[in-house]
Amino acid sequence: MQYGHFDDDRREYVITRPDTPLPWLNYLGTEDHFGIISNTAGGCSFYRDARLRRLTRYRHNNAPLDLGGRYLYLRDDLDGDYWSPSWQPTRSSLDGYECRHGLSYTSISSERRGVRAEMLCFVPLGESLEVWRLRVRNGRGERADLSLFSSVEFCLWDAMDDATNFQRNYSVGEVEVVDGVIYHKSEYRERRDHFAYFACSEPLAGFDTQRDVFLGSGRGWDSPLAVERGQSFDSIAYGWAPIGSHHVRLLLAPLETRDIIFVLGYSENPAEAKFDPSGSQTINKAPVRPVIERWLRAEQVEKAFVALSKTWEELLSVLQVETPDADTNRMVNTWNPYQCMATFNLSRSVSFFESGIGRGMGFRDSSQDLFGSVAMVPARARQRILDLAATQLPSGGAYHQYQPLTKRGNNEIGSGFNDDPLWLVLAASAYLKETGDLTLLDELIPYDNCPGTETPLSEHLERCVRYTLDRLGPHGLPLIGHADWNDCLNLNCFSETSGESFQTTQNREGGVAESLFIAPQFVLACKELAGIVRLRGESDMASSLEAEADQMVAAIEEHGWDGEWFLRAYDFFGVPVGSRSNEEGQIFAEPQGMCVMAGVGISDGKAAGALESVRDRLATEHGVVLVQPPYTRYHIELGEITSYPPGYKENGSVFCHVNPWIMIAETILGNGQAAFDYYKRTNPSARAPISDVHRCEPYVYAQTIAGPDAPTCGEARNSWLTGSASWHLTAISQWILGVRPELDGLRIDPVLPSSWRGFTARRRWRGATYEIVVHQEEGATGRVRRLLVDGTSVEGNLVRPVPAGSTVKVEATLERG
Ligand code: BGC
Ligand code: NOJ
Repeated sequence: MQYGHFDDDRREYVITRPDTPLPWLNYLGTEDHFGIISNTAGGCSFYRDARLRRLTRYRHNNAPLDLGGRYLYLRDDLDGDYWSPSWQPTRSSLDGYECRHGLSYTSISSERRGVRAEMLCFVPLGESLEVWRLRVRNGRGERADLSLFSSVEFCLWDAMDDATNFQRNYSVGEVEVVDGVIYHKSEYRERRDHFAYFACSEPLAGFDTQRDVFLGSGRGWDSPLAVERGQSFDSIAYGWAPIGSHHVRLLLAPLETRDIIFVLGYSENPAEAKFDPSGSQTINKAPVRPVIERWLRAEQVEKAFVALSKTWEELLSVLQVETPDADTNRMVNTWNPYQCMATFNLSRSVSFFESGIGRGMGFRDSSQDLFGSVAMVPARARQRILDLAATQLPSGGAYHQYQPLTKRGNNEIGSGFNDDPLWLVLAASAYLKETGDLTLLDELIPYDNCPGTETPLSEHLERCVRYTLDRLGPHGLPLIGHADWNDCLNLNCFSETSGESFQTTQNREGGVAESLFIAPQFVLACKELAGIVRLRGESDMASSLEAEADQMVAAIEEHGWDGEWFLRAYDFFGVPVGSRSNEEGQIFAEPQGMCVMAGVGISDGKAAGALESVRDRLATEHGVVLVQPPYTRYHIELGEITSYPPGYKENGSVFCHVNPWIMIAETILGNGQAAFDYYKRTNPSARAPISDVHRCEPYVYAQTIAGPDAPTCGEARNSWLTGSASWHLTAISQWILGVRPELDGLRIDPVLPSSWRGFTARRRWRGATYEIVVHQEEGATGRVRRLLVDGTSVEGNLVRPVPAGSTVKVEATLERG
């Protein structure tokens, strides 16, 4: 069952009924100002940091699930009938409803009793504000006497405080209403120099800023008293819950259409010029007034909307493909890179599933998010690498998270997730392969943001590798610390007390738990770094990195092989995890993918054996599950993974992030059909026909899909902000379609499903355009055997970089082996 369809030409997903199984979200904003918006206009808005600069409230964990948003009400003033054109919060019946989620905009339209309303929301490029354009059309044969009410509920800036510190919050709120503009200025009188504003293009019939006056005693957003009675109260908030609501009277002639624009923005003043007149407590509005005026103009909004679309076309033009598979084309050309940009911008901070309060920017998350976005935003990716490196500790370790506003490491969670630093090497490598910009390595960057500790970035990367070597366990494998990529495999925690953090509570001294995830990750990182330093002429360093990698490979082969697959870990007591000797949790997906990616066991059949075990034991119709059999009870020595019921999250769901590793591993062994079969199982667009089972948005990846051991098998959870986005794009574009940037050229190495006769791709790389045509002979399952570059035959499958601005025609043929 479906709740809508793709409009590929417009790069939109069109939701045709409002009661989707879960709120289906989109993101507004591309740079500093962001928002989430659901298909019924729910969501919040924030400037740069979802925790520390939250403009509007969104109540996670509420009922109905998606409450708080950009809510408009239309009211027929002749008989008092009122409704929400976005369905929520009144949920009145609508004669038509359509939500179009597009690239950084959402448009929701509906009709009731002949009045059509279409609300378009987006954040203009370069601005710290959202624009909502409401287009109302009176389709009746007679005049419509309407009232329009807007509403937002302001957040008192720090979303954590806002949700908890009520003894203060209920007394701190302040607003100003001047010339029809509602200004939210809580705490402006003291240390904040910023405020929010909410403006409307029409003359007002009234306004409200005190929530409980607008709503009326005992009422909710579904039936505000002001709307019901058809007149605002002109309330001014002193404490309690400041809101912004405009009341506009609309008299529309038959068939008349009117555009009404609302602007919700964020503004900062210099501390010394906060007040006007100075010495007063009134916001100095001189700087913001022209901004408001500009954005209330229809032509300005139209122009900005066109500019936004152009920017997206430009970003997406980095890679466009035409393959025989519509789900592949749709995801690769539009939705997958789009989701990658959301993860790049927001890490794991705010979605329907992330409150925007707790997580900040994850070190490993942001490093991996960069893989999927570096081609689109190389300059921003470069800065991200430097920001991440600046939170690195002198030991080479890394804070697990940092706050985007301050860019400081987050002390609460601290460091000691021993995979973290190695991701920085892989991120830097992805950047260098994309851009060829070796100057990155010479950037002087401090440790833990401490001035005076700067070293070149290259040394940061060396310390990342050294960090692992300084922490090897009894089998010569990397110590796991709090956790590796799998945050829930907590082998040093031993928590008996509910509520303790599984990651940061450690009850035993001297843990020797080792990770067979970090081991192959280390091999990969060493190989990547070796390639980089060799390019800089440091061949001794390169050889020594390769020697370290070889030694780790030897340790994996000796101590990391269980007979039919790679082990997952050794626990605190030196007992294998992910072994057939275990009763539960006998095989994990992560080391099978990672070891093959690191080149372990390719020549002696271990790699092939591991992937066969994945097929036999972990593959389901919904994708590859993380572990089998899942844990049925709490294992204190394994930690959080065993806290989830079987089939959910890390305990045996299809953990989407891991699936691309298996796909990539299959391509490395030349199994194009297997790789692509896996690809289709998790592809959101391919899952759209089972939206009632999948339940999350069919246009973006989710973190998990419940596994076969779960009662709700096939149900996705935690969509949008997940490393699945970046890794799926990497797997399909670089390994299955095989268009892969390397340090010295663009590798053309497709490993395709056998039924394909080929595909075409257009890739922008280092300023040049590569027009790629791939042919696959019938029955061919092999690699590229013939490569023509601008008509000239080339040895191997590497296309050397050409000058920026040029266009190169590349023709590759995969022949029968
Ligand atoms: C959560 C895990 C999650 C991880 C992310 C844990 O505390 O419960 O399920 O994947 O954090 O960092
Ligand atoms: C989600 C976290 O954001 C990520 O860092 C982690 O690797 C996965 N969960 C797996 O636990």
